[in-house]
Parts: sequence; C-alpha cells; structure tokens
Amino acid sequence: MIQRASLDELMTLVDPGKVLTDAASLEAYGKDWTKHYPPAPSAIVLPRTVEQVQAIVRWANAHKVALVPSGGRTGLSAGAVAAKGEVVVAFDYMNQILGFDAFDRTVVCQPGVITRQLQAYAEEQGLYYPVDFASSGSSQVGGNIGTNAGGIKVIRYGMTRNWVAGLKVVTGTGELLELNKGLVKNATGYDLRHLFIGAEGTLGFVVEATMRLDRAPRNLTAMVLGTPDFDSIMPVLHAFHGKLDLTAFEFFSDKGLARILARGDVPAPFHTPCSFYALLEFEASTEQVADEALATFEHCVAQGWVLDGVMSQSETQLKNLWKLREYLSETISHWTPYKNDISVTVSKVPAFLRDIDAVVQAHYPDYEVVWYGHIGDGNLHLNILKPEHMSKDAFFASCARVNKWVFEIVERYNGSISAEHGVGMTKRDYLGYSRSPEEIACMKAIKAVFDPNGIMNPGKIFAPE
Ligand code: MLT
Ligand code: ZN
Repeated sequence: MIQRASLDELMTLVDPGKVLTDAASLEAYGKDWTKHYPPAPSAIVLPRTVEQVQAIVRWANAHKVALVPSGGRTGLSAGAVAAKGEVVVAFDYMNQILGFDAFDRTVVCQPGVITRQLQAYAEEQGLYYPVDFASSGSSQVGGNIGTNAGGIKVIRYGMTRNWVAGLKVVTGTGELLELNKGLVKNATGYDLRHLFIGAEGTLGFVVEATMRLDRAPRNLTAMVLGTPDFDSIMPVLHAFHGKLDLTAFEFFSDKGLARILARGDVPAPFHTPCSFYALLEFEASTEQVADEALATFEHCVAQGWVLDGVMSQSETQLKNLWKLREYLSETISHWTPYKNDISVTVSKVPAFLRDIDAVVQAHYPDYEVVWYGHIGDGNLHLNILKPEHMSKDAFFASCARVNKWVFEIVERYNGSISAEHGVGMTKRDYLGYSRSPEEIACMKAIKAVFDPNGIMNPGKIFAPE
C-alpha cells in the first residue's frame, strides 16, 4: 500500500479533488469487463493535462508505485485491471477533440475521447471513422490504441493501427515523445508509434492521438444468411468476396441467435432454422451492386451453402440485422462467459474450427458453447457459458485446464491466442503459444528501454518474474 505522505504529494500534482480513494471509485476504476480479478487499486488519479501525466509518472518512479491506465474499461483481457494496489490513471478529463484538418482528413484527440464521439465528429465533417465495435459507446481512443482494437469492419478497414497518423506519449520515465507527427510518408528509421499501439500501456501512456478519417460509405446494406453447417460459411465468404467490396463478414451460431431472440427486443431475420449465420455488409452504391449481391445469394442457395437469407431495405432493417451480431457480447455476459479470442489465416479457418470444436466437445460436454466472430478476418470468439449452479472460480479453473489443448491447436496452425482483445492478465501465461522465446525476450528488452523501473502496467502481457 502507498504511504499517506506519497498520496498527499500526488494530490499536489493534479487539480483539486482529482485523486480518489473512496471505496466506490476504487471498485469502479479498478476493473474492466472481465470478472476474473477483484479490483484493489490504492488510488485513482485523473489528470487534465499532458504535464500532469508527466508529473504522475515521475512521482511513480520516485516512489516505485505501479500505474495502470484506464479508459472506458471495456477490455476483455484484464489489461486495465488494478488488482495489486496500483494507482489507476484515468483519462476521463482528457476527453476533448483538439483539432481537425479537412485536407489531411485527420482529427486530433485526447485519449479520453469516446470512440462514438470520434465517429460522430467524423460524420459531422462528412467523413467516417471506421473502427467500430459493440462497446464504442464507452471505449476511449487511448484504450483503443493501447489494445489496437479491431471490431466489425476490419475486413475492409483494418485495425486501429491503420488509423493512427501520429501519437504523443509519456514514457515510463516521464518523457514526452511526439511520434510520426501525422505524416503519411516518413522513412526516418524505427517507427516508434507502432510500438505503443497494442502495448497495453506497458511502455507509456498515450496523451494525444492524431487519427485518420475516411470518406463516408455509401448506402451500407447488410445480408444475414443461414447456413446448414460451419463448412458452408467459407465458400459463401469466397463467393461474396469475389463479387462485392465487403465492409464486414461476421458469423454467429444458432445458440448465439437463440440467446439474442430470447431478449425479446430484436426481430428474427427469418424463420428457417440454420446451424450458423453469416452477416455480411457492403456498399450498395449502385443498383448493379445490389443485383450482384442477390445473384450471388441465389448462387449460394443453388450450391446448398445457404438455406435462407434476408437483405436490408432500410436503415432500420440494417440496424436490426446488426443487432443480431452486436448484442451478442453483452447478452451472454449474464452467464459470465469464459472468453477466447483466437485467429488464424482465413484459409485455415474450417480445419482450425473443426479441431478446436472437437476439443471443446470432448472437454466441455456440459457447458453451452457460443461461437461468433469476425470470420472474414479469421477471428473466432469461443465463449463458454457458466452453468447457473457453478461458482465462478470453479468454472474458470475448469475452463483454464482446457486452454492448453485449445492453444496447442492455435500454435499448430500458426495462429494467435488473442486476435483483438489483447493479452492483459487473462492470456499472459499463454503468450508462448503465439510468440517465440526470442520474440518475448525482444519485447521485454523494449519495455526496459521505455520503462526501466517497471512501473507501467506491470503484470500485463508478461507474467511477473
Ligand atoms: C465482439 O466481437 O463482439 C467483441 O470482440 C466482444 C466479444 O468478443 O465478446
Ligand atoms: Zn470481436
């Protein structure tokens, strides 16, 4: 625990009332959406300026206090959980959009800008910020950068990394670095900007980000297609990929659909029962594109890959179809799911899923398994739901035992144990299934350069030594 005198000193570094130690704040700011670790921070500090962030980091070095960055706390790998008396640095008061350049199509954000705020701002300029996911109403830009957030439009637009034109970061020694300065072309050696993207705050804190925007999409249209089995989804993807410029290609299982329909506030897409469903989206910018989509749909039906389908005819229908996929995470959170976020190259998905599913069936015969994910990116979310009668600890322990077999398959397919949720604490013990010992040694050496005293989000990505 931190000495009273150190906390008093911390209070002098920020605005009055911006160090919180009450039980409710410690509980709220000490956790993210994972339920694995009870939050136990010593204090929460809310800086307003870059200079205040630098002062906090210098204070933490002087007092050997660990810092945990906190954005919207929507993470799913416990990357922003403070479970060991750390001080949480929350960016809620650094939440302004500082500038916009129509010519460069860039917008300068403080780290606490909410993703949806950035999307809405882009829309007001007639442009588009394309990184999108179900938690965009709470997640913050700094957190998105820290985890290199992906989401539902990666097939067309890529991950957050693609949209970061420049960064200002405060390193683990309190230095301010300005990285890439918004440039499109910059061949001046190592691009340090990219080291901080996806680093989960272990090297330093993002204090300003210049984000790129794109042209607004035209007449987005979604289709939901029901397939008889998982294997049929891939030829459907292949057929549509060849014909249309897809902006999304997602999937979910019949169990996922059943959970969504049980909510009672989302209409069924159609009534033919199917084992799996694909949700695809494209810009129907001309009538020919819509005709092409329908012709491809008919081809898929004729091949026996698709049993039924629907295409949105209005903005409301588009939104309703997306709810089938976007509401899944929140809907199943009621059953305290054990989550896996695994990926392989798209061509390997069918064999990979078959192997994983065999392990899952053999070891979790009594648990309900809900599959969904970004199949067009090779990213599958394997969610195992906790039976009502079972304690959380017993359930997580039994799921963790099976991880070994799941991750051995991931390793065999040259896949990733975390495609988009990050490593945090929940996946740190499995990092070796995706990264070689030599790579991990390089990563640790890089951390030592930016954070020599190991105060920046320790225990995340790497297990404590
Ligand atoms: C999603 O794809 O819905 C998100 O990654 C969240 C989740 O996996 O539950
Ligand atoms: Zn996802």
